Formats: sequence, structure tokens, C-alpha cells
Amino acid sequence: MARLREPDPRTAVVAAQVFDRELIEAIGQHATARRARQHSDLPQHEAPIGEHDDVAIPRGEHLQGGGARRSGVPRPRPADDDLVSLEALPREPADAIVRATLRHRGQDRQMRIGMLTGGGDCPGLNAVIRAVVRRGEGEHGHTFVGYRHGWRGLLDGETMPLSIETTRGLLPRGGTILGTSRTNPYKVDGGSEAVRATLAADRVDALIAIGGEDTLGVAQRLSTEGVSVVGVPKTIDNDLSATDFTFGFHTAVQIATDAIDRLHTTAESHDRVMVVEVMGRHAGWIAAYAGLASGADMVLVPEEAFDIDEVCERITHRHRRGAGFSIIVVAEGAVPRAGTMVLADGDVDAFGHVRLGGIGNTIAPEIERRTGFETRVTILGHVLRGGTPTAYDRVIATRFGLAAIDAVHDGAFGTMVALRGTDVVRVPIADGVAELKTLDDRFYADARAFFA
Ligand code: F6P
Repeated sequence: MARLREPDPRTAVVAAQVFDRELIEAIGQHATARRARQHSDLPQHEAPIGEHDDVAIPRGEHLQGGGARRSGVPRPRPADDDLVSLEALPREPADAIVRATLRHRGQDRQMRIGMLTGGGDCPGLNAVIRAVVRRGEGEHGHTFVGYRHGWRGLLDGETMPLSIETTRGLLPRGGTILGTSRTNPYKVDGGSEAVRATLAADRVDALIAIGGEDTLGVAQRLSTEGVSVVGVPKTIDNDLSATDFTFGFHTAVQIATDAIDRLHTTAESHDRVMVVEVMGRHAGWIAAYAGLASGADMVLVPEEAFDIDEVCERITHRHRRGAGFSIIVVAEGAVPRAGTMVLADGDVDAFGHVRLGGIGNTIAPEIERRTGFETRVTILGHVLRGGTPTAYDRVIATRFGLAAIDAVHDGAFGTMVALRGTDVVRVPIADGVAELKTLDDRFYADARAFFA
């Protein structure tokens, strides 16, 4: 068997142009057998298949499709196979092969799909839910069950009905109608077994997990254990790798920018230094974007430890040159250079993350003491997660929802949707949770150009 790593123009062109139903069905049968062999521990009907798989595709002279049938050439023989990556094929035939495989397994039917939102809420979650249901029910006839409060709903079996009717009007609504939590089923005795038992009891064929690093990490583990999961990345922090942006981020940046604009006028009136703390966990995306958008005089981010002496010198210098006020944006995860200041320890959640928040209160008195300028602190905190999503986030969230239900429909399990440029693509969930996407140095350098 030849292993085709690169797109094979011959295979791709033939599959795309001929697009013969019978041929695709034949390939689907090969795919079924191949997946069952690869996942020898799973029954054939559970071995996942998706766009990152290799499938056996009948070779050469047999790839004549409809033309072959018309000219009486025999149908493909299973022994004469090449291996081709579905990723190497154009989208349409690749999806058709996955569907043929599912049809062969008897899985190409109306599905019952579970959906949950996990981790911190963010604007756009409801828009995803609405889009998934609109296309899933409206175009494919699938039915849905919502699990309440993230993975906790799967442990407790707490559900709510989801249909086009019950998800109407959700597009502009912040938060999540499903509720959310930071429950980690792998931190609960028998948790993953309980999740699978709930899915079986509810006759759920596939699950859509909408969440950040933690929620998708659980989805990834469940996927390797045979659960049919598709992920949708969300977080205001924009710290997920494999996607250029997460929805929620743009809204958080806009809220922070509006707030800083307002702080400018009051800072100016009182000749004060304003320290504005924003969320973002261990990534400085929100701080740097909002700082650049609002003309902040300094932005402190987790990616670069700050020196409080330097911060104070810069502010003093700015005021000596005639400025009466200054705005300092500090990310909640910003840290002082080792040995320069002491920070209090925070509590740890079920995923082992330290609860952040309060660095603004630590640095503001230091700035006031060292510079002599009256200093105030505003911690924007959860305000950044509240309320209606911006138009941009509504659009990404909606496109993510549509792409997620398509992925489920195509059986592309173990993948998550992602934004690459202006395209919504599928990537392995594992890629999305592999490492934290921290602030790009080049972007921080641009923000730095405006520092005091
Ligand atoms: O991950 C989103 C986020 O808002 C972070 O920016 C912040 O550190 C954290 O969640 C706050 O979590 P909680 O809502 O549990 O306080």
C-alpha cells in the first residue's frame, strides 16, 4: 500500500469531479473496516472517523467512478487500495466519504445531540447554541438535549430541552441559557463513567462541548475514551491555541476600552493616576488590545514581569513633561519581577488554576507612595464577561455553531472548530488544548510604542 501524505491530485480530482455515490459508498466501507482495525478495542460502530483520518481508497484504474460504471469496468476490489488522508481531499468528497461510512455503520440517521457550556461564561455562548440548534434541527432533523452547568449536568443528569422554539431570540443575549460551572469530571470518583452513563441513558449519540482550555481538555479525554465529541472554543481571554480568535474576546476588549475612555476624563479632571485591572488569566491579550485601543500610558501583562521602579519612573517622567494624569492597564495575571514585590496566594479551582484578581490593589499604593501622585484603582473583573456580544463576536459564535453541527453531522469527532484567518476550520481538539496561546511579542511591542 502506498501512503499518500500530500494531496494526491489524481485521487482528489477524480473524487471531486466524478463524485460517484456508489464509489463514495465503497470507500466508506473501506473506511469502516480500517477504523475498526485501528481501534481494535472499540466495536466497529464506535470507532470514530473524521477528516484527520486516513482511509483506504480503491486505486488507480478503478477510480473511474460513474464513467467506469458506464463503460462496464468492474467496481473497486478491496485488495487494491491506497491510503489517502481525508484532509488531502476537497471538503465535499471528504465529507461524503465520512457520511458514507456512517451510513454503512447505520449511524447516518437523525441524531440526538447533547450540548453543554463549561468554564467561565462569555458573550456569544447563546449565539452558538442557537446556531447549532437552528441548523441541526432545521436542516438535519436532529434533536437536542442541553446539559445544565457544564460537566456537572452530565454527572447529575440535569438537562433542559433545546429546540428551535426554545432557542429563539438568543443571538444578542449574554451569558448562557445552559448555565455553566468549573466542574471537572476527572476530579470526581467515577466521573467519566458517570458522564458516559448519562449519555447512554439519554440516548445521546454525540456531544457538543463549548468551552475553554479546561472544558475542551475534558472533551479531548472523553473523545480518546470513545465518546463522540465536537468542541467549540470560547473564552474572553483569547488564550486557546489553534484558533486565531475566540468569541467573547472582542466584546471584553470593547467593554474595557469603553471603561478606560471614561476613566480618562475623570483622571484628567483630578490629576490622578488610574490603575485599571482587566481579566485574561495568564495571557495579556485583553490588556494589550484594550490598552492599545484606549491609549493607555502603560500596559502590564503576564508575559513580561514588570519592575515597579520602572513603572514609577516612566509615570514620573510623563508628568514632568506636562501630563497631569496617567492610565495604567494591568492584566490580572501580571507579575512583578522576582524579588521586587510580594503577591498574596490565591485559591485553586478544580482544574488547578489559581483564582486571580487584585494585582491593581497591590501596585496602586506603591505607585502613590513612590511617585506622590494620587492613584485610584478600578477592577473591571466580571463586567468584561457580561452583557450582549459585539457584532463581531455574534458572527464568529454563529459561524462556530454552524460549523460544529456540520462536524457532528459528518462524524468528525475529536475535532473542534477554529478560526483561521477568515475561515472556520476543523482541528483536532488536542491541538486546541496543547498549550496556552500567550500574547504575541510583536503585538506587545506595538502597545509599548505608546508607553509613558
Ligand atoms: O477564563 C475567563 C476568566 O474570566 C478569566 O479571565 C478569569 O481569571 C477567570 O475566568 C475568572 O473566573 P471566575 O468566573 O471563576 O471568577
